[in-house]
Amino acid sequence: MPRIAYVDGAFTPHRDACVGIEDRGLQFADSVYEVWGVRNGRLMDSPGHLDRLFRSLGELRIAFPVTREALMIALEELRRRNRIRNGLLYLQVTRGVAPRDHGFPVQATPTVIATAKHIPQHKADARAKAGVSVVTAPDIRWGRCDIKTTGLTANILAKQHAREQGAFEVWMLDADGYVTEGSSSNAWIVASGGVLVTRPVTDNILAGVTRAAILRIASELGLTVEERAFTPQEAMDAKEAFMTSASSFVMPVISIDGAQISAGRPGETSVALRQGYEKLALNA
Ligand code: PDD
Repeated sequence: MPRIAYVDGAFTPHRDACVGIEDRGLQFADSVYEVWGVRNGRLMDSPGHLDRLFRSLGELRIAFPVTREALMIALEELRRRNRIRNGLLYLQVTRGVAPRDHGFPVQATPTVIATAKHIPQHKADARAKAGVSVVTAPDIRWGRCDIKTTGLTANILAKQHAREQGAFEVWMLDADGYVTEGSSSNAWIVASGGVLVTRPVTDNILAGVTRAAILRIASELGLTVEERAFTPQEAMDAKEAFMTSASSFVMPVISIDGAQISAGRPGETSVALRQGYEKLALNA
């Protein structure tokens, strides 16, 4: 079955989909994006992704005329046309096509692109069952990591570093040596005493939509949460560690910089939170 993409209001075969060579998303990363997880045919956490999309657009002052409702109809249709039951939907909105000039163009119509990708669920589940490794690296990103722009140079270099170290993710460190977040995920630990710890949302991390859902689930499970920064050493000494994102849901972390955590197996809190998140796909 051919993959279908969505470009500026039209559905088109993925291989034929294209944008202009002077699109500002291409030239300046002058664009924002969102990634939805799809489970059992459901787009997960749509209100949170839409809220963050419109916030990012507002921060970049991209005038986007499409309503939330119209966008959701297009995304759902994209999911249906690609027959995705488990996978990801990617949406990108750029400032549009204009002659190259750093300042905002006087006139440009935002470009809207969306694609869908199938992910074999058994593979994702097997990875979560085994747990993943992370390595640490300096966080060299800019000061507005709260905006979900496609300016991801530092993130891709970090992820590549992880791959070359045989790890699944990088946990990036601020100038004081505290973990900010992963290259494409939020970072968590379960400290001694069972307290869930994750960095508070400020300009230097992305307010993960999955993170917010996990905070809600943690409160339903009666877990104590501390929103504060933690160091790699604290993570190595923790009972458990995990990461969250639309693409990995809750992914247990079993080693940091080669030091084993929770005896090299996913911890019970991580597993309970993953199950709690997956239940949302069934119940919603
Ligand atoms: N990444 N932090 C960063 C830097 C991210 O890129 C992401 C998401 C997250 C987690 O956010 P959420 O729970 O809303 O997915 C945190 C997506 C999945 C990506 O870039 O593919």
